[in-house]
Amino acid sequence: MVPDGTQGRALRTIPAQEMTMTENQANPSGPDLTQGIAFAELADGGMFAGHVGDDQVLLARVGEQVFAVAAQCSHYHGPLAEGLVVGEMVRCPWHHACFSLRTGNRSD
Ligand code: FES
Repeated sequence: MVPDGTQGRALRTIPAQEMTMTENQANPSGPDLTQGIAFAELADGGMFAGHVGDDQVLLARVGEQVFAVAAQCSHYHGPLAEGLVVGEMVRCPWHHACFSLRTGNRSD
C-alpha cells in the first residue's frame, strides 16, 4: 500500500550516509556531557559533540560563551559538528542551512 499523497511521485532513496546518521540518533555517541568538559577543550569558535542521555548535543564556543544545541540538522540530520561556526550561527555541512547557537532555530 502506498501512503496518502505519494501516488504518482518518485520516492526519494536515502543515501547510506544519512541512514547512518539516523542510526546514530538511536545510539548516542561521544562523551557524556553531563560530566562536563574542561573549558580549555573548547577553543574559541570550536565545537565539541557528545550526548546528554539519548540526545546528541553539540557544544560551541563563541568568545567566553558556550552554547549547546542539537547535534543534527533538522533537515536531513546533517552532522553540525562538521559544519562551520560563523558568529553565533552554525552552518550545516550538507546543504548549508544555518542555525542560531543561541536558540537552535533555523535562520533563513
Ligand atoms: S542536512 Fe540539509 S541543510 Fe543540513
